Amino acid sequence: MIERNIQMDYRHRVVFTHGLFAANNSLLADELTDGADDCSRMLVFIDEGLLRKNEDLLEAVEAYAEAQGGRLKLVARPVILPGGEACKNEWRLVESVWDEINRYGLCRHSYVVAIGGGAFLDMVGFGAATAHRGVRLVRVPTTTLSQGDGGVGVKNGVNHFGKKNWVGTFSVPHVVINDFDFLESLSERDRRDGIIEAIKVALIRDAEFYQRLENNSAALAALEPAALEMAIRRSAELHVEHIATGGDPFEYGSARPLDFGHWVAHKLEQLSAFAVSHGEAVAIGMAVDLLYSVRAGILDESTAGRILDLIEEVGFDLWSTYLEPASDGGRGVLNGIEEFREHLGGQLTITLVPAIGEKLEVHTMDEQMVELALADLKQRVLSRSSSMPVPEGQKKSPATTELV
Ligand SMILES: NC(=O)c1ccc[n+]([C@@H]2O[C@H](COP(=O)([O-])OP(=O)(O)OC[C@H]3O[C@@H](n4cnc5c(N)ncnc54)[C@H](O)[C@@H]3O)[C@@H](O)[C@H]2O)c1
Ligand SMILES: [Zn+2]
Repeated sequence: MIERNIQMDYRHRVVFTHGLFAANNSLLADELTDGADDCSRMLVFIDEGLLRKNEDLLEAVEAYAEAQGGRLKLVARPVILPGGEACKNEWRLVESVWDEINRYGLCRHSYVVAIGGGAFLDMVGFGAATAHRGVRLVRVPTTTLSQGDGGVGVKNGVNHFGKKNWVGTFSVPHVVINDFDFLESLSERDRRDGIIEAIKVALIRDAEFYQRLENNSAALAALEPAALEMAIRRSAELHVEHIATGGDPFEYGSARPLDFGHWVAHKLEQLSAFAVSHGEAVAIGMAVDLLYSVRAGILDESTAGRILDLIEEVGFDLWSTYLEPASDGGRGVLNGIEEFREHLGGQLTITLVPAIGEKLEVHTMDEQMVELALADLKQRVLSRSSSMPVPEGQKKSPATTELV
């Protein structure tokens, strides 16, 4: 037998900026040339949905490359491809990423720069990771969800056989660049969505961050840029910290703590044919798991109530009609448990939160207790929906840009 350990040391970096393509912002050029005066070749892919709301982006990218004094060579005009979840269902788009990489002779020392939402980055990232066994990739996530969560990870992939992320690779990008200015063109709903992943990662890893989110709930609810920036920054940092220090960056095990609240969420998204957004579904999924934890004696009721308050305060609903039983009495959402197990592989492992900032893995979910948690949640939502006027003293003070 010949046996050797192969040790790899990856550097995974996320950098934050404003105005990525402003002529005087040298960040991208520095990242692609390691500060040297080399000329780096890059091919840029832009999410069509993003471009529709940022019509100047194409010209800005070209002008930027031009202004870098020969350090950056744009091998072609930026390539515009559709984004959103639908792009992960179209294999021809992966092929068109390969086509472009091939046409312009990109090698393993050239860069693909992908600018767009999490779905677009997953699709282009898969194309880049499989061309020449991996062309360097710069990811520029442009949604709150992808800047704080999906876009800062080390995975890519597209949907196949009707299954989400069935084809894909683990591949550490050259760098991830979060430009907060891109968030301005998102709808309010899309901008809010990313806040929930910040609450999620705070709950499983960082009590102090959770407190900061709570202290700034009014500003977050108002989607104030400074508050969003604070939430996304720390969320991204905690996600990267988890990947780097959690002991399983390429997910060989069955536990995925970052998927807290996600077994319900994935199922709700599917049952609603994606009418419920990912963030909205995670909000409800965490609420179910928190009340389940109370029923199971894992979490105290007042802490669960405090977290549900925050989720509502930042603008998420805790109930969806897709949680209701179907006409045959069965609740579709319960199938989410087994589907989640299949998705992660191996033994069922669900992460729960026994206290703010801590996590606990369980390997069974008692369906009757889930039913009770759902009843508790519905009861809470119903009792609060009788629109009682809020007493003056309890009204939230107006949002401020001063973060506390
Ligand atoms: N690779 C990972 O580790 C990982 C982790 C979590 C999620 N994901 C994936 O991320 C995807 C979801 O990503 P998402 O939440 O960013 O949504 P998305 O990529 O589906 O984007 C939503 C919509 O917003 C548009 N858009 C993007 N940026 C915009 C902007 N700044 N202004 C206006 N419109 C803009 C897109 O064109 C799209 O239509 C899913 O496919 C999910 O599987 C990946
Ligand atoms: Zn998520």
